[in-house]
Amino acid sequence: MNQAGRLACAAGPFAPLPMELGRLFMPEALTPLFFTPVYAGLTAEQRLYYNQLQACCFNEQIVFFESLIGDGVMQALLKENWPPTFARQLRQFWQEEQAHSAMFRRLNRSSRPQWYERADYHFVRFAPPLWAFIRWAARHPRLFPMLLWLMLLQEERSLHYSSEFLRHRQQLEPHFVEVYRLHMIDEAGHVRSDLALLDQLWPSLSMRSRQRNARWLAWVIREFVSGPKRGQWRVIEALLQAFPALQAQRCWIREQVVALEQNETFQLSLYSRRIVPRSFERFDQWPELQVLEGAIRGYRWQGKAQAC
Ligand SMILES: [Fe+2]
Ligand SMILES: [Fe+2]
Repeated sequence: MNQAGRLACAAGPFAPLPMELGRLFMPEALTPLFFTPVYAGLTAEQRLYYNQLQACCFNEQIVFFESLIGDGVMQALLKENWPPTFARQLRQFWQEEQAHSAMFRRLNRSSRPQWYERADYHFVRFAPPLWAFIRWAARHPRLFPMLLWLMLLQEERSLHYSSEFLRHRQQLEPHFVEVYRLHMIDEAGHVRSDLALLDQLWPSLSMRSRQRNARWLAWVIREFVSGPKRGQWRVIEALLQAFPALQAQRCWIREQVVALEQNETFQLSLYSRRIVPRSFERFDQWPELQVLEGAIRGYRWQGKAQAC
């Protein structure tokens, strides 16, 4: 069993050690509200509550990517004919993602049992038809190879997030630090597998399919992963509910959160050449991915323009 699998199993260290609920669950600078003037006006208690909720939401996003997308994509790819060594690598990738999903679910259950005892998602929600479409698309990675680019981007970014958890370990809840440390160990290998998959899959597609997928990828990044939208707003709603005194500032808080879409410092904290160097390098190799400049503030295409 891998590292994450050991932690995810029933006898893992969660059972004997209670969560330290008085501590931050994630580094403050990884939370969207930190980048707004709202944050400076919150009390220590409000900041702690927001931080813990945002961390649960972040864990949900990981479970979503790794179980709904990663698992579906891997199951589909494993049905294909790959050289034995690479097939083994993919199988290990798949098993590790399953263990990670279990590990993050367990972390959320230990943090907020009232929300996660019976459900995996409290903040991340989609309409059932969209949910079903995502599940179907994930099982067709040759039709939607943009999902592999998305996996690469998110997995490489998760390495940066994990290293930030480790850098701030003294202030953070120890179970969160340990889970993110274990996740980082496996994710480094996943980034290598994503790159290998893309090297084989992307060049085999027609230019039309690549351009179409590049446009879809830009849309998905803009809509779902590059700014505080739906899930994050639900986190803030939960904060307002827990601290009714903040309700008077509701509109102002909403304005500040919406403004993050245009906030350069916040946007560069999500994706940059420092945070996701290998993803950006790969984007540069494909002219059709220049379209991502419109979706990722920190990305400027640096490839060579093709001769006419
Ligand atoms: Fe993972
Ligand atoms: Fe992964």
